[in-house]
Amino acid sequence: MKLLVTGGAGFIGSCFVRTALTEGWAKRVVNFDKLTYAGNLENVAPVAEHPGYRFIQADICDAEAVEKALREEVPDAIVHFAAESHVDRSIHSPAPVIQTNFNGTFTLLEAARRLKIARFVHVSTDEVYGSIEPPHDADESYPLRASSPYSASKAGSDLLALSYYTTYKVSVSVTRASNNYGPYQFPEKLIPLMISNALEDKPLPVYGDGQQVRDWLFVEDHCQAIKAVLEKGRAGEVYNVGGNCSLPNLEVVERILKATGKPASLIQQVTDRPGHDRRYALTNAKLTAETGWAPQVDFTHGLQATVDWYTWNKAWVERIKSGEYLRFYELNYSHRVG
Ligand code: NAD
Ligand code: TYD
Repeated sequence: MKLLVTGGAGFIGSCFVRTALTEGWAKRVVNFDKLTYAGNLENVAPVAEHPGYRFIQADICDAEAVEKALREEVPDAIVHFAAESHVDRSIHSPAPVIQTNFNGTFTLLEAARRLKIARFVHVSTDEVYGSIEPPHDADESYPLRASSPYSASKAGSDLLALSYYTTYKVSVSVTRASNNYGPYQFPEKLIPLMISNALEDKPLPVYGDGQQVRDWLFVEDHCQAIKAVLEKGRAGEVYNVGGNCSLPNLEVVERILKATGKPASLIQQVTDRPGHDRRYALTNAKLTAETGWAPQVDFTHGLQATVDWYTWNKAWVERIKSGEYLRFYELNYSHRVG
């Protein structure tokens, strides 16, 4: 199989690129990535010399660059990860989020339609459902009630992607995953931020009362789910991808403190995120029934593996925790501690 992967230098996309090439089920993987602050070629260094790997630095909003790559490579499928993926950044600065997540997806769909690409997997998020009232778990027919510019841009792009199946019969499937964690995650998201701050004895900023619930999915399980949808998913369908692991944020932070051997005094409660969704929870029943996929990595093992990775890769974190990262972190943090 030949794949064009967008956003393959980011956290989840790079895991997918590494997995596809090292497991050998993709013979060729073209990584199409703009290298924003979140893109990092170190994430794909393990496969950079693989004969089937090619990197193209370009923007998914650039129709000419997209078309050129597709004409040169003629992939069997596009797997679309590229996005502005951080809710807090989308609140501070929504324009690039709408541009990449909505207009960029449109550019890719148009190219896929015109060049008759056989398969298109659009990687999305459970955040499109908004906050889910207990005791319900969202299935794929749950209403879309996005709360942040990030989740609204993803909900909009999901609908656009599905419309390309309904209208033009482009073979699109949409995946909606819960919160991912694992190695190589940019330390602006909860788990890598808390691990890296704990390792540096810095405060762990918990938003509001810390009782917001997220469902946690190990990144390698997510990549196997995307492979399952790519190979066995039906066109025009949405598939939830959950980790069967709902936890309040404060409990996640406490587990990180335990795993890093750091004191609870590092926890700092800070001003809440505006429009903060209280709870995400998904059912995977459809994906499991249609493809046999189920998450394999339990949270205790996945978290320990992640803590170990950040402990052994402090240099990777240090290189990121400068420049753009630091500017946004300090803005966000100082804003919250008042
Ligand atoms: P990330 O922020 O780590 O990586 C995003 C990648 O996209 C980066 O390599 C960046 O350079 C690239 N990119 C951004 N704008 C681009 C553009 N205009 N053109 C080309 N490349 C561009 O993101 P992630 O956490 O790996 O998320 C990947 C996808 O998975 C996103 O679509 C996100 O919405 C979705 N998702 C993420 C999570 C999560 O917990 N992280 C959960 C569910 C779904
Ligand atoms: P995040 O990793 O940003 O993912 P998302 O907003 O996409 O779910 O945040 C996960 C949860 O952790 C969310 O409820 C917000 C909370 N959070 C904190 O409490 N402190 C932080 O510093 C961050 C980044 C997130």
